[in-house]
Amino acid sequence: MASNGGHGQRRVLVLSLPFEGHINPMLQLAGALHGRGGLSVTVLHTRFNALDPSCNPELSVTVLHTRFNALDASRHPDLAFVEVPDGLTAELAASSNVTRIILAINAAMEGESASPSSPSFRDVLASVVAADGDEGRPPAACLIIDSNLRGAQKAAAGLGLPTLVLRTGSAACLGCYLAYPTLIEKGYLPPKESQLYEPVKELPPLRIRDLFYSKDANLEMVSEVLAKITETVRNSMGVVINTFDDLEPAELKKIHNELGDKFTVVLAAGPLHKLSSMHIGSSLKLRPDQRCIEWLDTQATQSVLYVSFGSLVSLDSDEFLEVACGLERSGQPFLWVVRPDLVRGGFDKACLPDGFERAVEGRGKVIQWAPQQEVLAHHAIGGFWTHNGWNSTLESISEGVPMICRPQLADQPLNTRYMEAVWGVGFELEGKLERGKIEKSIRKLMVEKEGAGMRERAKKLKNKVEGCLKNGGSSQIAIDSVDGGVRRGGG
Ligand code: UDX
Repeated sequence: MASNGGHGQRRVLVLSLPFEGHINPMLQLAGALHGRGGLSVTVLHTRFNALDPSCNPELSVTVLHTRFNALDASRHPDLAFVEVPDGLTAELAASSNVTRIILAINAAMEGESASPSSPSFRDVLASVVAADGDEGRPPAACLIIDSNLRGAQKAAAGLGLPTLVLRTGSAACLGCYLAYPTLIEKGYLPPKESQLYEPVKELPPLRIRDLFYSKDANLEMVSEVLAKITETVRNSMGVVINTFDDLEPAELKKIHNELGDKFTVVLAAGPLHKLSSMHIGSSLKLRPDQRCIEWLDTQATQSVLYVSFGSLVSLDSDEFLEVACGLERSGQPFLWVVRPDLVRGGFDKACLPDGFERAVEGRGKVIQWAPQQEVLAHHAIGGFWTHNGWNSTLESISEGVPMICRPQLADQPLNTRYMEAVWGVGFELEGKLERGKIEKSIRKLMVEKEGAGMRERAKKLKNKVEGCLKNGGSSQIAIDSVDGGVRRGGG
């Protein structure tokens, strides 16, 4: 194989968790590093990321990946991809049990090979590092990993390869994870029904209901996953957080203080999607429906509500029906992402109310997957009904779009709390989903004074995003520090 990284002095390997919300920011970080002076990047991936065989062997950036999510190498001609073992059965990969998936991947990456004929994660990592020398590529200086991959970090440490961690959530979220053992000790967790609205004094403005907690996994399992995250962060040479200084100044300061002097760097280098356009762009087998942009072109400025619940959240069929009826009754134009797996038990047209398509003709569009960043940047979009996954939240903030928040799991309730209580650019649609309540919420955001105030504040936040991305802006400085640190070999 020809030398493929001659213009970079150093190579960085990147490895993400196999979910859109994690792969996208990792690819964006890889893209931002590669874009600055051509640092070579190798992307490692697990068995569950489907790879396009047209992957170009001359690439100077390599991605380690799993086969879990559709990771289309042909869309990233600047990246090279290497598949790594992930220990997932097809059944587990197809399940929505994120906690179990994360624990299984960690066990596989930390452990020995499952069978004598297949290499372990450590073997693959060692061969990637060794191949650099054999094939004239710049040597790997460090591995950038998702903060959930403590197993990969241990394997890298065994090879003397330092790690840098990417936190794909907010700084507030990392602060909450760092405080998790204290929260359990003080009795906030597991949450008691009668205390959900009580404040968590240690983490204002959070209330007990905003804390990371999963009904699907017991407290022990959740604690184990979160402990791995904080352990990974503490054992790395630094953590890159997909946020920006002006958005979470107090939370970033708190993390600096908490991690202490021994720790090298905490860098707020986001929003990463604004520093690099790289993202997988598709969900599993879904391609973004670009025709929705032509449709948006026909709609009035700030008139359309974009509705999407990310890549993992699902709804019961009766909840789905209420959403459809609420959108219909609101009278507002809308663009609604309905993934085939959005409705538990599967979506078909019978899930929609009778006459829905006729009733919303011309003002409502339903698609399976959107080019979300392009949609949010479109002048026709006036609001976003979101599950508040951190990527969707940041993408909306970056375009000055206010939000209706309907969090369901993981860090989503925490993000919603910040939207409402700190940034004032969204409000929660709480309780049982019911068409009348949905209609009211849509009107509040899209046509009423309260929504206009949120839009105003969202525009101000957008200006702050632009500030951190300018030459000399805080996120540009942070990315330069990551680039410099990697080139020095982690020093
Ligand atoms: C998951 C968790 O749900 C979330 O809490 C955590 O913060 C990140 O991981 P996910 O459900 O995937 O997130 O949501 P989000 O973080 O918002 O990421 C979704 C990504 O898919 C975004 O980058 C978004 O632009 C993209 N997307 C979504 C599309 O490109 N098209 C769509 O139609 C919907």
